[in-house]
Amino acid sequence: MENLIIKGGKRLSGTVLTSGAKNAALPILAATILTEGKTRLLNVPDVVDIDSMCKLLSNLGVAVSSPDSDRHTIELNIGHLSRLEAPYDLVRKMRASVIVLGPMLAKYGHARVSMPGGCAIGERPINMHLAALAKMGASIEIDHGYVEATAKRLVGTSINLDYPTVGGTENIICAAALARGTTVIDNAAREPEIVDLADFLNKAGAKVSGAGTHQVIVDGVDTLSGVEHSIIPDRIEAGTYALAAAITGGEVTVSGCNPNHLGAPLEKLLEAGCEIATSRDSLTVKATGRARPVSITTQPYPGYPTDLQAQWLAFMTLADGSSIIKETVFERRFTHVQELRRMGAKITVDGDTAVVTGVERLQGAPVMCTDIRASASLILAGLAAENSTVISRVYHLDRGYERIEEKLRPLGAEISREQV
Ligand code: EPU
Repeated sequence: MENLIIKGGKRLSGTVLTSGAKNAALPILAATILTEGKTRLLNVPDVVDIDSMCKLLSNLGVAVSSPDSDRHTIELNIGHLSRLEAPYDLVRKMRASVIVLGPMLAKYGHARVSMPGGCAIGERPINMHLAALAKMGASIEIDHGYVEATAKRLVGTSINLDYPTVGGTENIICAAALARGTTVIDNAAREPEIVDLADFLNKAGAKVSGAGTHQVIVDGVDTLSGVEHSIIPDRIEAGTYALAAAITGGEVTVSGCNPNHLGAPLEKLLEAGCEIATSRDSLTVKATGRARPVSITTQPYPGYPTDLQAQWLAFMTLADGSSIIKETVFERRFTHVQELRRMGAKITVDGDTAVVTGVERLQGAPVMCTDIRASASLILAGLAAENSTVISRVYHLDRGYERIEEKLRPLGAEISREQV
């Protein structure tokens, strides 16, 4: 077990480099199952969830390696899979493992995947993934906690999603890539990670159009080949560093990111009183005094992202007044609230809504990570708080943030990691 210890109260300044997007790399790694031959993925973040996906792929019989000199490159050699099962032990660690379902089913006509349960942030069912695959001709059975899907060859069809599910859209696009005929997905998720997946698949020979819009059209092809592809920057990591600048009253340039992917959060930072400058691949956030209170409502992209809700809430604990944080994507994504209260934050929660009354100061305290983004919010609060904050269970953080303390230290943060 490891703790992070932060001595807060330092204004951050300097430049921090964004890593590749975990949530783009995960489905793209899974999509390599659809291909044949060698694929080289660049700009892959060195985080625990990526290790978990690589373990899952190795377990299926994929040769996965990274050059010693570059942990951000992953090379995969896709032959015939020796197994078509994602076991409980791997899915339990990372529910995004369910994204191998569509690719395995499309390529091999069979897949057995442990049902992902709920997690700290919500129930997270996969009913829409399964209904779509069934509509494409798969027979789906759920038995002893496993989904068992079989189809001789999936057939393209029209799918109208009740909600623009990110993982569901990814699973359907992958399944449709090798299906017979055309699949039209309406009310598709529009996240940049969907666009990256489509770009990867199209390089490999797929015919995916409309990614990034409400309607994605996939014309199935017979085979896909290995390619080289560079993963897009992590917009959530970049947004977290932007908020680190804002909450500490500092000025930070986040390089290697795509500011266009952060439209809603940057607008909110402007409203809160920050100054923002952007270039094609960087953004600079400068705080100009105590933040104004600004309310947010999380929405699918291009709305304000749920993956930056906890960090915004932490920022608002020090604002000059009250703000309302409404979480519409997940039903219980407020586990950071009780931890922030330990630091002196004034927050009440009623259902999907938190009301944050800004205080003048937060005090360091022992707090505990509960999920990836809740952990990031505790780091932000710790950076701004007086005295020391000790953050436990940092394995949640390490699932999605690449060596966060090593990125924050050059900005002037006093943050260290200890074994306990
Ligand atoms: N949902 C259903 N049925 C389904 C699928 C989804 O009811 O069949 C519900 C979910 O329970 C949730 C909502 O729809 O309430 C949105 O879920 P979605 O499927 O869009 O999310 P996801 O694919 O499971 C991805 C990210 C999450 C991110 C969400 C929303 C990955 C690996 N995960 O999850 O990232 O919060 O989209 O943007 O891409 C994180 O990185 O910390 C993280 C949780």
